[in-house]
Amino acid sequence: MEKTFIMVKPDGVQRGLIGEIISRFERKGFRMESGKLMTVSTELAEKHYAEHKEKPFFGELVNFITSGPVFAMVWAGEDVIATARQMMGKTNPSEAAPGTIRGDYGLTVGKNIVHGSDSPESAEREIQLWFNEEELSSYEKTI
Ligand code: CMP
Repeated sequence: MEKTFIMVKPDGVQRGLIGEIISRFERKGFRMESGKLMTVSTELAEKHYAEHKEKPFFGELVNFITSGPVFAMVWAGEDVIATARQMMGKTNPSEAAPGTIRGDYGLTVGKNIVHGSDSPESAEREIQLWFNEEELSSYEKTI
């Protein structure tokens, strides 16, 4: 079963949107396999955003993601990587369609509520980076 890494960013946590975001993915039919509220170290933030190291907004990105707790999750399901990205909407909330998470709740590209892996390679890398082996609980539905 495909898996992806989804994170409610500090703005989403502080605006009380953890439950809303979990609910959207649950109602879609995906299942959460791991989840934790945590404060992000600068080291983890820099590793997570390594591909943006040369971008002018890299410092801002790291400052923001370390500014308050995030809710980090692993979600599983058919085509979950691409479908979760559709459900989140475009990176810039001003371009994200209504009905998507960023379209409904986001205002700026920096504070865009939620992050989701953009490819199977990113998903694999990000899940390994954010969770250790004991925190990853794979399970099948029995009901
Ligand atoms: P995310 O999916 O977490 O991955 C990279 C993040 O960079 C992206 O969401 C945006 O929040 C952020 N980002 C992209 N472009 C800009 C920008 N021009 N200024 C600030 N942040 C940006």
